Amino acid sequence: MAEKVYVVLGATGHVGSPVARRLAEARRPLRVVARSAAALAAHADAEQLVGSVEDPELVRRALDGAGAAFVQLPPYLGPGARAWQDRVAGILADGLEAARVPYAVALSSLGAQLASGTGPVAGLHTLEERLGRVPGLSVLALRPGYFFENHLSAIGVVRSAGFYAGALAPELRMAQIAAADVGEVAARRLLALDWRGREIQELHGERDVTPVEVARALGAAIGKPDLAYVQLSYADAHAGLVQAGLSEEVAALYVELARALNDGRIASDEPRSPATTTPTSIEAWAREVFARELRAG
Ligand SMILES: NC(=O)c1ccc[n+]([C@@H]2O[C@H](COP(=O)([O-])OP(=O)(O)OC[C@H]3O[C@@H](n4cnc5c(N)ncnc54)[C@H](OP(=O)(O)O)[C@@H]3O)[C@@H](O)[C@H]2O)c1
Repeated sequence: MAEKVYVVLGATGHVGSPVARRLAEARRPLRVVARSAAALAAHADAEQLVGSVEDPELVRRALDGAGAAFVQLPPYLGPGARAWQDRVAGILADGLEAARVPYAVALSSLGAQLASGTGPVAGLHTLEERLGRVPGLSVLALRPGYFFENHLSAIGVVRSAGFYAGALAPELRMAQIAAADVGEVAARRLLALDWRGREIQELHGERDVTPVEVARALGAAIGKPDLAYVQLSYADAHAGLVQAGLSEEVAALYVELARALNDGRIASDEPRSPATTTPTSIEAWAREVFARELRAG
C-alpha cells in the first residue's frame, strides 16, 4: 500500500516551514499548503497546494489521504478576527473528520487552556477544543511560549528611536522560544507518531527571559550593547499598534494578550523539563536572525 501523505498547513510560516523541511529531509510523501505559490515553491519536492484555510473545499482537498497533518490558525489581522479564528478552527476540524485523518499536530500556545481574556490565544483554545471532538483523531497540541520572532517587529523602533519598547513588564520572566525549534519538535513527533488520543506538550524555549534581557541580547547582536527596554502603557501600546496599521479590534486583542502575560494568567502550566526545553537561546537567535533582518530591512 502507498505510504500516506503528510500534510503541512501554513508550510511557509515561521513554524510550518521547518516542519515541512524536516519531513522532506526524512523523505516522507508531503503536501504543503499556503496562499503564496511563490513561497511554497521552496518546498520543491512536495506536492504544493495553493489556497486559503478559509475555504472548506480547499481544506478537504488538502487533507485527502493524509496519514498525519500539521495544522495551525494563521495569524489574522482583518475585521472580526476572533470570529474568523473560530470559523477556521471549525473548518480544520471538519476537514480532518471528513478525510478521516488519524493524527494531527496542532500549533497552539501557552495559555490555550483559557477560553477568554487572552487575546488571539483564545482562538487556539477553540482550535484545541474543536480538534479534540473529532472522532478517531489523535491530537497533539504543542503549546509554545512567546516566539522570538515577535521581536522582529522592534526593528523599526530600534533603528529610529534606539530603544526597544513594548507593553510587557520589564522584569517579566517568561518562556520565549525560537519558532524554528517549535517546528523541529513538531516534525520529530510527526515522524514518530507516538501519541494517542489528546496530548498537550508545552515548549519553554532554552530558558525563561525578561524583556530587559531580550533587549540586551538584541543590542549585543547589533553592536548596541546598551539597548534599553521601555515599557509602554496599554493605551500607548494600543495606539502604536493602530498606527502600525492594525484595526482597533486586533490592537485590543494584542493588548489583552500583553495584559494576560503581565498578570501571569498566561504562563507555563508545567515545570520546565528536558522535554519542554529547546536549544536556541535568545542570544544565538539575535545574532543569527535579528541582526540579519535588521541589516536587510
Ligand atoms: N507569535 C507568538 O508568540 C506565538 C506563540 C505561540 C503560538 N503562536 C501561534 O502560532 C501560529 C502561527 O504563527 P506564525 O507566527 O508561525 O505565523 P506565520 O509565520 O505568519 O505563518 C502562517 C502560515 O500560514 C499561511 N497562511 C496565512 N494565512 C493563511 C490562509 N488564510 N490560508 C492558508 N494559509 C495561510 C502563511 O502563508 P501565506 O501567507 O502564504 O498563506 C504561512 O505559511 C498562530 O496561530 C499563533 O497564534 C504564536
